[in-house]
Amino acid sequence: MASLGFVGAAAGQAAAAASTLPSSRSAFVVVGRPTGSTHAAPGGRPGRAATMMTPSPPAGGGSSSPASLKVDTAEATALTASEPQNVPDKTYDATVPDVRGRYGRFGGQYVPETLMFALEELEAGYAAARADPTFHEEVNGLLKDFVGRPTPLYFAERLTERYARPDGSGPRIWFKREDLNHTGAHKINNSVMQAVLAKRLGKTRIIAETGAGQHGVATATVCARFGLECEVYMGAADMERQALNVFRMRLLGARVIPVTAGAGTLSNALSEAIRDWVTRPVETHYIVGSVAGPHPYPYIVREAHAVIGAETRGQAVDKWGGAPDILIACVGGGSNAIGLFHEFKADEGVRLIGVEAAGKGLDSGEHAATMSRGSLGVLHGSMSYQLQDQWGQLQETHSVSAGLDYPSVGPEHSFMKDTGRCEYVSVTDDEALDAFKLCSRLEGIIPALETAHALAHLEKLCPGLEGSPNIVVNLSGRGDKDVTTVVGLFKERGDADVVF
Ligand SMILES: Cc1ncc(COP(=O)(O)O)c(C=O)c1O
Repeated sequence: MASLGFVGAAAGQAAAAASTLPSSRSAFVVVGRPTGSTHAAPGGRPGRAATMMTPSPPAGGGSSSPASLKVDTAEATALTASEPQNVPDKTYDATVPDVRGRYGRFGGQYVPETLMFALEELEAGYAAARADPTFHEEVNGLLKDFVGRPTPLYFAERLTERYARPDGSGPRIWFKREDLNHTGAHKINNSVMQAVLAKRLGKTRIIAETGAGQHGVATATVCARFGLECEVYMGAADMERQALNVFRMRLLGARVIPVTAGAGTLSNALSEAIRDWVTRPVETHYIVGSVAGPHPYPYIVREAHAVIGAETRGQAVDKWGGAPDILIACVGGGSNAIGLFHEFKADEGVRLIGVEAAGKGLDSGEHAATMSRGSLGVLHGSMSYQLQDQWGQLQETHSVSAGLDYPSVGPEHSFMKDTGRCEYVSVTDDEALDAFKLCSRLEGIIPALETAHALAHLEKLCPGLEGSPNIVVNLSGRGDKDVTTVVGLFKERGDADVVF
């Protein structure tokens, strides 16, 4: 059983409780044990119902039957019907999140009362920063000269030839080269922006969680740059498979804290980071690494990465005089995907495709395909789709890629799934490994294993496409970090062309 942070509590309790509360910004949901008892967090303020997730499964004989804890989408919609909603018609509302940090019925702030002040401070601090031109000047200056933006939109000529029809038509493949950013992935966009914000808020200590290590490296990098203390929580299993990034973080002066709870992967690291933050919120800023977590994180992280799509729009005009037809990105928590998609969400002609990890196959029980197999619940302070059992307990996930090995997804992605604005598909470990090799050999670019999932989907998508659509794949990161893992996996598969 996975070890849990602010998790679990099957969505039914959250939703049911929510429906009895006043729908004001300051009202938060009390989520009780599956028996139905509720717990106000210590120190809760009058007029506010604090949210405290209680992860314990029902001790035998609780009044709820396990079956009643499994909440499917339709049921949850009914349970939340008395709440203000901006879902679910097919029109995408680009103004989300609403003032309560909700994307339709997803998102929110399911955290203990002790963290509410920190989230409110962050929300107010970010609003002030957004309105201040000097904040943007500083962030943009760093993105340009420290990170190396803008990243190129690169024509993948040999991959395009691979999918060409005999008459020369066929999809045209472009790579948005986030792998060329300083530190090797998109993650640094967010770390830079949040570090500048943390400084403005007077924080001296930064914490972060990391899976593949790219967010940890990006955060350790900006902390070195700004002279901030840095502690990174990382699952013990991930530390082994991403050893290169552990060394990089240490070299940069960060303390890497192994998390042995549960499977020792990203979800466990996130839970530990939140626990840390609860104990020292005054001097600490938590740089969440994806569009996950309680509001305002999904929003702040999206805004930090929106530069990816904004640049892509201008570059598409320069390269072919129009907008892309299809955007593809891998989805772990969902930050690189939102970063690319956000700019185009209101362009109905642009098809958005998120690719998650099917691991050893959707029916193997060993995957991280939240969108394909998840149900509504709360994890890490936010309502979204989760991979959970009938008790609301997280399921163990598996992916060859540490960055996609997460049993949830950012709330805006869940919203985009329900509204139909974005399609979500999945790719197995084997398909990702094939794409890892293919991209290396055809394009001279070794992609991250996470990115290889997005590339693998081209193999399924392209043969069925008509005309010559321009497809942009977000090349979210480079694969140096994965080489050791991949050698072992190629050996296991007997890929004699790469392993001798
Ligand atoms: C290179 C790369 N791509 C993608 C991801 C997945 O994260 P997200 O879905 O937030 O972009 C990670 C996570 O570590 C990553 O390192």
